[in-house]
Amino acid sequence: MLRIDGERIYLRDHRAGDLESFHAWLSDPVVARYLTFRTSTRDQSFIQLADALQENDKETRTKYFFATVLHENDHIIGEAGFTIKARAEHGGIADLGYFLLKPYWGKGYATEATELMLAYCFKVLKLHKVVATCDAENKASERVMKRCGMVQEACPKKDYLLNGEWRDRLGYGILYEDWIKHQEPMDGS
Ligand SMILES: CC(C)(COP(=O)(O)OP(=O)(O)OC[C@H]1O[C@@H](n2cnc3c(N)ncnc32)[C@H](O)[C@@H]1OP(=O)(O)O)[C@@H](O)C(=O)NCCC(=O)NCCS
Repeated sequence: MLRIDGERIYLRDHRAGDLESFHAWLSDPVVARYLTFRTSTRDQSFIQLADALQENDKETRTKYFFATVLHENDHIIGEAGFTIKARAEHGGIADLGYFLLKPYWGKGYATEATELMLAYCFKVLKLHKVVATCDAENKASERVMKRCGMVQEACPKKDYLLNGEWRDRLGYGILYEDWIKHQEPMDGS
């Protein structure tokens, strides 16, 4: 089971016992406001969790879905993960995302989770680029990407369908060489 430790949180592969918290965020209309894959029933969440669990044991893994857990009490506060969408002998590209239960917003946890995923993608998986997208109005998500050193690369208009409405998206990305530079001020502090 993969586990990535940070200062206040850790990311770990999902277990079957995560269904309660998994369903809580995935079916919450506030958390899932900008999601196209939100669920309404526990059975639907179970199917999505089962898909995530299947990925854990794959030899050539392309999907990493993690529970985001607090060190202090082992409570699951949300989900974070990434999909490797391209891979070559040298480098590859991952697309990441993050979701937190509402009581845990605004405490920097998504930023910490994203920093952990970036470090894993660049240092362990040796990818050359990580990207992420959000709804153009999802300011909290955009701020997380910026805080982690990602830069806006695209703003595709009416690019995805949400509740019957075509909506604009923001595309952010960071290259390995720029991520390394972003680490320097923190290493020196
Ligand atoms: C997006 C999300 C994960 C952010 O989590 P978080 O832990 O609150 O994020 P952080 O605390 O690390 O950082 C949030 C930043 O956004 C800012 N922010 C929050 N809401 C904002 C808003 N409405 N407008 C502008 N900035 C906002 C915060 O002030 C903070 O920036 P700062 O530290 O520079 O002040 C959380 O809001 C969430 O789960 N939303 C629902 C799911 C979702 O939309 N996920 C992203 C899908 S692309």
